[in-house]
Amino acid sequence: MRLRYSSALVTGASSGIGLEFARVLADRGCDLVLVARRTDRLEALAKELSTVKVEVLAADLGSEAGVAAVEQRLADSPVELLVNNAGIASGGPFTETDLDYEDQMVKVNVLAVMRLCRAAVGPMVAAGHGGIINVSSIAGEQPLRGYATYSASKAYVTTFTEALAAEVRANGVHVTLLKPGYVWTEMNPDGPARDSMQGRIWLEADAVARHAVDAVEKGKLMSVPGVQWRAASGLIQALPRQLVRGLTSRFDAST
Ligand SMILES: NC(=O)c1ccc[n+]([C@@H]2O[C@H](COP(=O)([O-])OP(=O)(O)OC[C@H]3O[C@@H](n4cnc5c(N)ncnc54)[C@H](OP(=O)(O)O)[C@@H]3O)[C@@H](O)[C@H]2O)c1
Repeated sequence: MRLRYSSALVTGASSGIGLEFARVLADRGCDLVLVARRTDRLEALAKELSTVKVEVLAADLGSEAGVAAVEQRLADSPVELLVNNAGIASGGPFTETDLDYEDQMVKVNVLAVMRLCRAAVGPMVAAGHGGIINVSSIAGEQPLRGYATYSASKAYVTTFTEALAAEVRANGVHVTLLKPGYVWTEMNPDGPARDSMQGRIWLEADAVARHAVDAVEKGKLMSVPGVQWRAASGLIQALPRQLVRGLTSRFDAST
């Protein structure tokens, strides 16, 4: 099935969900701009995706120069679909985490998402056509002890995306919020055994990317892949915040 968007820029396309976004989009005939730091991986992916035009853009989204380079690319030649997928996470008590890494997390997970949305959405509104997928997480729906900065960064992405979607819907721009639960990627190298009880509720990265692309194609705001995670997300949102806070404060999610 050919996508309604003919070009897309995907951040964090060198591994995990972003790499699968690139595969799903190429499969549906979409030309690509692939963004990440590890260009060797992006070049290899570009070779694999030989049925569409693929451009590799090396950028560190934790740096001003990196974000500015991607903004410039979006200004020079606007894309029809933006996928803000790049993200980092770290766990542990906030007082003991590496402050530089926490700082990078806010820059990559929050500021880059906001800046690239701003760069992409103007031309989309002017054209009356476009799509944005912002990758948040179920982690953004609750204050996670042991992941204070990560869960807060994803709470930003969730709220920002919901507001942006409401602002540009009438201009023909579809904004989709992807909120996965646990996904088998390099972000979680120490996950549970695949055939364990816990492992069975984890998601495959290709299915996650496909779910979000289908959602933006249909103009849906929410993409929560997996019935188990839709149930969890619905429950967290239905419970009073005080109760959620009480439950999540009892255990350290990073251990
Ligand atoms: N895995 C999960 O369980 C899970 C659950 C919910 C949400 N998510 C979200 O899904 C998104 C993708 O994560 P993933 O699980 O696929 O992890 P991953 O395999 O570690 O991929 C992360 C991607 O982000 C890129 N990236 C990281 N820092 C960057 C920087 N400074 N500049 C540019 N690119 C950068 C990486 O590329 P380079 O290192 O090459 O730059 C890589 O391509 C993230 O936003 C994450 O928060 C993941």
